[in-house]
Amino acid sequence: MFAERITQQLGKPTQNLWGWMAKKFFEKHNRLLEASAVKLCDIQPGNVVLELGFGPGLGLQEAARRLTHPPGKLYGLDISEYMYNVASERMQAEIQTGKVNLFLGSVEQIPLEGGVVDRVYHCNCYYFWPDLRAGSREIRRVMKPGGLMVTTLHLEDLKRLVASGVLKDTKWQPEPYMEVLSETGFVDVHLEEQQLNGRSLHAIFATANEA
Ligand SMILES: C[S@@+](CC[C@H](N)C(=O)[O-])C[C@H]1O[C@@H](n2cnc3c(N)ncnc32)[C@H](O)[C@@H]1O
Repeated sequence: MFAERITQQLGKPTQNLWGWMAKKFFEKHNRLLEASAVKLCDIQPGNVVLELGFGPGLGLQEAARRLTHPPGKLYGLDISEYMYNVASERMQAEIQTGKVNLFLGSVEQIPLEGGVVDRVYHCNCYYFWPDLRAGSREIRRVMKPGGLMVTTLHLEDLKRLVASGVLKDTKWQPEPYMEVLSETGFVDVHLEEQQLNGRSLHAIFATANEA
């Protein structure tokens, strides 16, 4: 029951004490993971970038710093209204200038035209998608051929969470996601272990094919 509640709040934080605790947890523990995803994406100043499942918006701040608008532009999409509101407040200045645009919604329906995004990144997010294949296909749809997608994860932390009953019935393992990426228009899909700021993390890389 407790683990189920936590899983729900990690997957879609709501505006109550549980959601607030989830937000605090993300802010305290996931900054490095978010910053690493942004770094590994190799964002260029003029890129169009998309973060999925931005949570409280720490990774949005990191990515926005690397972009020059225009033509650089940062989009974000999250399914939680609470996280959407928190991140919108955090990114208020950049939203006002048009550098950042946030959407409330799910990865299976990204409100962007096809073939416009250079870089996509996400952290701790795909575990909660209702349909990995639909999500992956939709990411590929909005990406430019040759564009790069990166997702970062702390595999050891995830295993500990799973052992405690959290993330039960989710597809948190990298392999099923990587398989689906390869089947839906991505090439060079691989997992790398990285050492960043003295901490070990894993990153999945996938390049949008040329088709
Ligand atoms: C565990 S939190 C991670 C937040 C942030 N990326 C971090 O690492 O701190 C997962 C985030 O993904 C969002 N999310 C879950 N399912 C989603 C979906 N289908 N589409 C878009 N966002 C989703 C949640 O609302 C939540 O903000």
